[in-house]
Amino acid sequence: MHDSLGELQKEAVAALEKAASLAALKEVEKNFLGKGGKVTGLLKGLKDLPDEEKKSFGKAVNDLKVALEGLYQSRSQILEREEIDRTLENDWIDLTAPGTQHETGHIHPLSETQEEVERIFQQMGFTIVDGPEVESEFYNFEGLNIPSYHPARDMQDTFFIDKAPHPTEGKMVLRTHTSPAGQVRALMQHGAPLRVICPGRCFRNEATDASHEHTFNQVEGLLIDEGISLAHLKGVMLEFLKRLFKRDLKVRFRPGYFPFVEPGLELDMSCPFCDQKGCRVCKHSGWIEFMGCGMTHPHVLKTAGIDSEKYQGWAFGFGLTRLVMMRYAIDDIRHLQNGDLRFNEQF
Ligand code: DAH
Repeated sequence: MHDSLGELQKEAVAALEKAASLAALKEVEKNFLGKGGKVTGLLKGLKDLPDEEKKSFGKAVNDLKVALEGLYQSRSQILEREEIDRTLENDWIDLTAPGTQHETGHIHPLSETQEEVERIFQQMGFTIVDGPEVESEFYNFEGLNIPSYHPARDMQDTFFIDKAPHPTEGKMVLRTHTSPAGQVRALMQHGAPLRVICPGRCFRNEATDASHEHTFNQVEGLLIDEGISLAHLKGVMLEFLKRLFKRDLKVRFRPGYFPFVEPGLELDMSCPFCDQKGCRVCKHSGWIEFMGCGMTHPHVLKTAGIDSEKYQGWAFGFGLTRLVMMRYAIDDIRHLQNGDLRFNEQF
């Protein structure tokens, strides 16, 4: 009996020592010391032994049990330690390491400046309006006092859309300016008095180079009310430019020609980059051509169903793309829309 106990001990010790993981060790412990385990079985069988054996064998089994329990404890401590070491080695986190920089997107310079322009005009009581980029000839031309025979149609190299013309409004085109939405549609929809701006994309069929793109952005402005004069336009533009460039600027008018305004004018602003001392941006003239503008032609008002005896006002249109290029000293218009992130990331 005691011999077999010696065998059992050898077996158990070997198994405990061989167990390479906590889970395996637990299994060994169960096999020997658990409820149905071999050592436990011996203890259970004690009651069937004659009294004289019961005592000595009982003690021997119990000693074995205590010894194995001790061995189990120390093995499990070792394995636990090993497991922790392994985890630390494989999964350690250096809390002092600098974090990884995640890339974040940001607002495109065109959108940023557009939002700024919108905010300033909104503060001055203008509403923002929108219109379709695919327009009919009526809105892009006729409604703006540019009839089909008018040479101004050739000035704007138009993209025609290859689909059936509109039943009453002529061929479909990509709008060549924001005037159809900011003037004709706005007036037809809202009537007078009206104070709106319309920022948006425009398209012209041009050969592209550093300063010409088939797609560019404009901002149209329109103010129609009773008793409106160019003095109001001057006041609004002085205030707008002051808020945009955060300094007092001057403006001047020169004669210009646009079929939808009479008189038609060009507005120059004093150069905000050199305070008129002369720089590359203003070509050393101290002035920058900023926009076309003028008093809204009565034909435009009449076409939109507005009483041109009662109401008058002005319209303007400036290049948002050009403004952004000026502000950020961007020398090639093609950078703005070609999607090269190396460009966008600079802003
Ligand atoms: N629509 C003109 C263009 O794209 C710009 C313009 C000129 C708009 C004079 C106006 C204006 O409202 O009054 O060339």
